Amino acid sequence: MQSVGTRPLLLINCRQLLTLRGTASPRSGGAMGEPGLIRNGAVLIHGATIELVGPLDRVTRSLAARRAECIDLRGGVVLPGFVDSHTHALFAASRVDEYEARIRGATYSEIAEAGGGIQASARQIRTMSERKLIRRLMEVVGRFVEHGTTTLEIKSGYGLEPAQELKMLRAIKETACRVIGELIPTLLIHDVPARLKPRRTAYLRLIVRRLIPEVVRRKLADCFDVFCDRGYFSVAEARTLLAAAAQAGLKLKLHAEQLAHTGAARMAAEMGAVSVDHLDHVSDADIRRLRKHGTIATLLPGSVLHLNSGRYPPARRLIDAGVPVALASNFNPGSSPTLNMQMILALACSQMRMTPAEAIVAATINGAYAVGRGDRVGSLEPGKQADLTVMDVDDYREIPYYFGMNHCRLAIKKGRLIFSKRGEGL
Ligand code: NIG
Repeated sequence: MQSVGTRPLLLINCRQLLTLRGTASPRSGGAMGEPGLIRNGAVLIHGATIELVGPLDRVTRSLAARRAECIDLRGGVVLPGFVDSHTHALFAASRVDEYEARIRGATYSEIAEAGGGIQASARQIRTMSERKLIRRLMEVVGRFVEHGTTTLEIKSGYGLEPAQELKMLRAIKETACRVIGELIPTLLIHDVPARLKPRRTAYLRLIVRRLIPEVVRRKLADCFDVFCDRGYFSVAEARTLLAAAAQAGLKLKLHAEQLAHTGAARMAAEMGAVSVDHLDHVSDADIRRLRKHGTIATLLPGSVLHLNSGRYPPARRLIDAGVPVALASNFNPGSSPTLNMQMILALACSQMRMTPAEAIVAATINGAYAVGRGDRVGSLEPGKQADLTVMDVDDYREIPYYFGMNHCRLAIKKGRLIFSKRGEGL
């Protein structure tokens, strides 16, 4: 990692610069198709903050630009660092055996019923020390950064037992202090631990009375999430948990309508959730509710691809109805083992008919709003954090077009170079 020093930094000759500028709110409708494109642009960074963004000649005329250290990018597409607003990036091991079992015909639900899935990841987490989890997560965050992600949400949810959930959240918090990439921790209630399966109500009580207050007291999470779906938590159970978390001051998110339609998305929207995530089975009536409440729809096409469910969430209907859409990797060992947001853009465009501009808006500024950071990250505007990535393409639409590749050449976080493909400084 390398600091760019105290002199202002001037990035010039960005072939295309996507500013994502706009109103101070999640983008919806037509605004989702406006990436704020500037050809031959420049960015002036002072410390951790963006000072000026615009066409090269205008930025270079400014007084501050004259004493800046000038970096000639010689082309490339510059855009805000991706904000990956839904990940389960902290896990102890892969579940590649389940992957092969699914290829041979088993379903995600059958594997879970046989004690695999989330329960398997929980057994693995239990045996791993907090120190090892931190080391593992630091490496994983480095991989996100290499692919252009500079801010990411990370859920707990593989601890299940309160003590293990706390261990996961502490590991995320400690990792956040050691890396420059920005981590947003979420307490996720994912499943009932095996030993408490016959005592669901007691488990829910434990979460409400002990775990949520403890997490808030120790400032271990910003957001709260529940896996509300067929075979996991019911809408009534999730409502109780969300109410307790909201009262404790956590932002609400919800895993909703992934495996079946349950009414979870509507319930969460009515409770003021900042986002509802997955939505493979969302209905038109739900979409109207999301629109009414301004809830962000976070779509996770990586899991549809990997589980081969064939049912992508209806991105077009959501956007056309005026719902702000975000895209996230959902990086996890069961349903979406990718952390490459560029691949997620490709799926969104090819499988869900989002335009490349809409997909980039969804993966940057709308992702930022989905984790409560829209005022600081997700767009390149004066006063915002200098978080950006340079992609080695000539046209931003080539990011999803040349799919399955890593185009990221540089990643800058808070004005500091945190990744360079060629291993050079700026
Ligand atoms: O978002 N759906 C619930 N949680 C994850 C999968 C977790 C796992 O299988 O480990 C998801 O897809």
